[in-house]
Amino acid sequence: MANSIKLSSIIFSFFFLQQLLFSNGQNNDIKGGYWLRDSGLPLNNIDSTLFTHLFCAFADLNSQSNQLIIKPEDQDSFRQFTSTVQQKNPSAKTLLSIGGGDAPNKRAYGVMARTPNSRKSFIDSSIRLARQLGFHGLDLDWEYPESATDMTNFGILLNEWRTAINTEARNSGRAPLLLTAAVFYSPRVNNLDYPVPSVARNFDWINLMAYDFYAPNWSASQTNSHAQLFDPVNHVSGSDGITTWIQAGVPTQKLVLGIPFYGYAWQLVNANIHGLRAPASGKSSVSPNNEGSITYSQIQNYIVQSRATTVYNATIVGYYCYSGNTWIWYDDTQSVRNKVTYAKGRGLLGYFAWHIAQDQNWVLSRTASQTWGASSQAMK
Ligand SMILES: *[C@@H]1O[C@H](CO)[C@@H](O)[C@H](O)[C@H]1NC(C)=O
Ligand SMILES: *[C@@H]1O[C@H](CO)[C@@H](O)[C@H](O)[C@H]1NC(C)=O
Repeated sequence: MANSIKLSSIIFSFFFLQQLLFSNGQNNDIKGGYWLRDSGLPLNNIDSTLFTHLFCAFADLNSQSNQLIIKPEDQDSFRQFTSTVQQKNPSAKTLLSIGGGDAPNKRAYGVMARTPNSRKSFIDSSIRLARQLGFHGLDLDWEYPESATDMTNFGILLNEWRTAINTEARNSGRAPLLLTAAVFYSPRVNNLDYPVPSVARNFDWINLMAYDFYAPNWSASQTNSHAQLFDPVNHVSGSDGITTWIQAGVPTQKLVLGIPFYGYAWQLVNANIHGLRAPASGKSSVSPNNEGSITYSQIQNYIVQSRATTVYNATIVGYYCYSGNTWIWYDDTQSVRNKVTYAKGRGLLGYFAWHIAQDQNWVLSRTASQTWGASSQAMK
């Protein structure tokens, strides 16, 4: 009897300690997802119970004022974003995402980062806007700094941004805004190194865009795997990206692995030659856009309608399907499960989806969330 009381009080204090360690402003587990206002998924329909953090995309940089702004057509939904997703999941955190791969004025980020005054305009306006709209944080998707000078200034921007965020938190008595970024899958992009010490010090975490390795748009002549987890030959993969960021000096617990909810569709040269790296001639017409991308939901419909053959490649982790002259590389439940298991096993902070409207009935979102589990921290 005495022993069992003692044991239960030890167990109790153990869990109490865990609570203390991980409740105070720490980000335990990231089950992230990006939402785009014009993606066709209404805000009300987001199943926020499947996510811990939702990224609202995208706010823009005004190249005249160097201030952060929100397009007129986005303003209503961005203002309602946090309260809406918190209806289903009161503990969901939200971040206002800035820039993006299709940002209209990518060059403006380099210009803004160049002088103390323009950096201050950007930083102050970003904090003001995030607070006004009720977001818990800011997420920078600058794709990509274009010169060594841009990279240096990016590092300076982050130092000043972090200082301003901490100052605002002290003055307002509120928890500091989160500060994150979506970055290239490896710490070197277009032969330029990210300012890794500043990245490691100033961001709460970074979202590794571990996809788009190959696409019919810029890798037209053969089919290929656009988001493989492993690549024993060329080392272009999610796991290689994680390794190189860690080697460069970013703590493993600040890394979040990106999982694409879309694939790329190539046009096969010969319908009978349909393996990985088969001859191809650019994008397939099943893709509704120039890049040749196609959403997970569209892929699922395509597979049923055209009775496509599906193949899982467990060596590199990913699927392809083919029918006639169309060939698509994509992620499905098993590859998502493997990626999430891998991210957790390596001690990463979590994973994120780009982007949630591309899912079909939340299948991939649910698979990822269940695979990661409720909380990893009790085991660490
Ligand atoms: C890739 O797509 C973009 C449009 O999204 C287009 O401007 C560009 O020319 C394409 N590149 C190639 C090589 O097809
Ligand atoms: C899986 O990927 C590996 C590595 O690229 C490749 O050697 C193998 O042929 C692939 N298998 C299938 C079925 O695509």
